[in-house]
Amino acid sequence: MNPNKVLWEKGDFTRIASSMRESGEALVGTLGIVKGLKVLDLGCGDGTTAIPAATRGAEVLGVDIARNLVEAGNHRVKEMGLTNIRFEEGDASNLEGIKDDSFDLVVSIFGAMFAPKPFDVAKEMVRVTRPGGRIVMGNWIPNDPTLVAQILKISSAYTPAPPEGFVSPMTWGAEANAIERFSKAGVPEKDVSFARDTYTFIFPTPPSKLVDEFQSYYGPTMNAFAAAEQSGRTSQLRKELDALFESQNRSAKKGETAIPATYLRVTVAVN
Ligand SMILES: C[S@@+](CC[C@H](N)C(=O)[O-])C[C@H]1O[C@@H](n2cnc3c(N)ncnc32)[C@H](O)[C@@H]1O
Repeated sequence: MNPNKVLWEKGDFTRIASSMRESGEALVGTLGIVKGLKVLDLGCGDGTTAIPAATRGAEVLGVDIARNLVEAGNHRVKEMGLTNIRFEEGDASNLEGIKDDSFDLVVSIFGAMFAPKPFDVAKEMVRVTRPGGRIVMGNWIPNDPTLVAQILKISSAYTPAPPEGFVSPMTWGAEANAIERFSKAGVPEKDVSFARDTYTFIFPTPPSKLVDEFQSYYGPTMNAFAAAEQSGRTSQLRKELDALFESQNRSAKKGETAIPATYLRVTVAVN
């Protein structure tokens, strides 16, 4: 049993992803996608970025560890009648079955950061990108004051210490780590660049309803609530998350939610 797979199949990330579509679309609009570009989206979920890449004409493969999300992605593209995209199960730390130099662009937005063995992840991303191609990662930033880093920080205070050797996904949000991981994969530091950008979670109901979605469907938050229940601290955790979502809500529309979150965009030129 792969605990990483279990974590993401436990919930239903499509429920959260529905609040991320606008930012996914906007991000893909900046990637210079042209017709026929070969794109791999790693940790693609149900296609928040993979599908906009395909609607711009790219040939897209979405890879995700969670079977339910792969099914959801394939269902979405079938409904949309898109034939230049498919989703399949796979692990970002071992892309066996994908040949070297297969893609012009490898995208991973809050995806590969969650895979264990970050050095293997960097190596695999570089291996499957053709010389002259690019890798673009979106990574949440450790200790950032905005939403996702804070959810993970609050949650970690309720969950037992991770097993020995566990590398936090948030380490991908520190520039020095990304440089070290890609340089071990053969990419010089000068070919790794960084920018801070914003993803906005938009939801048609009040912030507390979005907390409900995280509590019921987002694997890491579900685990935090399971642990909080064991220690009799469920309502304390819920209170902390309600306060966080409420304080970060920037929607001008009453009863709706728009929460911006900062992430680190990592761009790697592969040569
Ligand atoms: C926060 S979600 C983001 C999904 C999608 N990129 C998006 O922006 O909506 C993280 C995704 O990474 C996937 N994931 C986690 N570990 C993975 C791994 N080792 N290999 C591939 N995908 C993985 C999860 O199943 C999940 O779909």
